[in-house]
Amino acid sequence: MSTLEAILADLAIPVVGAPMAGAAGGRLAAAISAGGGLGLVGVGNVATVDQVRAEVGLVAESGERFGVGLMCWSLPANPALLDAALESGPAVVSLSFGDPRPYLPAARAAGAVVVAQVGTRTEALEALDAGVDGLVVRGSEGGGHGRGVVSTLPLLQQVLDLTDRPVLVGGGVATARGLAAVLAAGASAAWVGTPFAASAESLFRPELKAAVIGADTDQTVYTRAFDIAQRFDWPTIYGGRALVNGFTEQWAHRTEALEEAVTDELTATMKQARVDADLSLAPVYAGESAGLVDRPRTAAEVLDGFASFREYLRAAQRWLVD
Ligand SMILES: Cc1cc2nc3c(=O)[nH]c(=O)nc-3n(C[C@H](O)[C@H](O)[C@H](O)COP(=O)(O)O)c2cc1C
Repeated sequence: MSTLEAILADLAIPVVGAPMAGAAGGRLAAAISAGGGLGLVGVGNVATVDQVRAEVGLVAESGERFGVGLMCWSLPANPALLDAALESGPAVVSLSFGDPRPYLPAARAAGAVVVAQVGTRTEALEALDAGVDGLVVRGSEGGGHGRGVVSTLPLLQQVLDLTDRPVLVGGGVATARGLAAVLAAGASAAWVGTPFAASAESLFRPELKAAVIGADTDQTVYTRAFDIAQRFDWPTIYGGRALVNGFTEQWAHRTEALEEAVTDELTATMKQARVDADLSLAPVYAGESAGLVDRPRTAAEVLDGFASFREYLRAAQRWLVD
């Protein structure tokens, strides 16, 4: 088993592709790892064992080092997802959105190091206490699910002072400037979702990729409304950041009323809207950095966009005068 430090030190570009259910399958993870980062496959709450085997199998076949990311709250109902995710030997396992403790022994026995995404100082302390190998600070500007309470930079500064274990950082890091900023602060690598969700190798449908590319930084919203409409059992402290649409305009900030108003018909209509890519209704999970994604790119091109981070670190050295 390599340490997390050693895995991150091996990267040509200190960028980890975030596990993203519905976007980060084996093809994307393999492309990110081949391009000099580290790709993670996202395992969602509605995944099946066969799907996980197929996606993880794809990246394992590529021969690249890779990771997987699971949602702890959903594993008690479907523990076989963890076994399927571990079968092909991921180097890194992300155990987020719930208590990682029950799953640490199996991940370690499979030879993986374990990270957990945290969205508050308290969650960081809990994850450190649970014994994870590293933390992923995940600010509220990030895409997809997470906490919606503290943004990336304040949380990063707080968490870096709590631990000597590696700290990765997700939520709004989408350019070489952003990567340089978090590395200069003391992060070990960036944890990037939204730009890869829109990339060629992502499982996102073309309509969703186009919507992310077309959106600006102020066109996302953090809400539980989509989970309520689909009657997903996400713990209520977690919402998700998605592009604004007709549905969010009506319900994003009226989730208590939506809990009352949700019907079987709405649940079925929302699920069908996802199948049909009807983006007036269906969620397109993406963070504020959607506004920094302005054209179709491959995963390798996304990584190339980060590659000049050293220029910004060098420019900042002008402050090293006495
Ligand atoms: C489409 C999408 C799906 C996501 N799915 C997951 C997931 O399955 N598991 C997980 O741990 N995080 C998931 N996330 C959150 C990411 O791990 C990460 O925190 C986030 O993308 C980082 O912020 P950024 O989008 O600004 O780069 C998802 C994010 C997106 C955009």
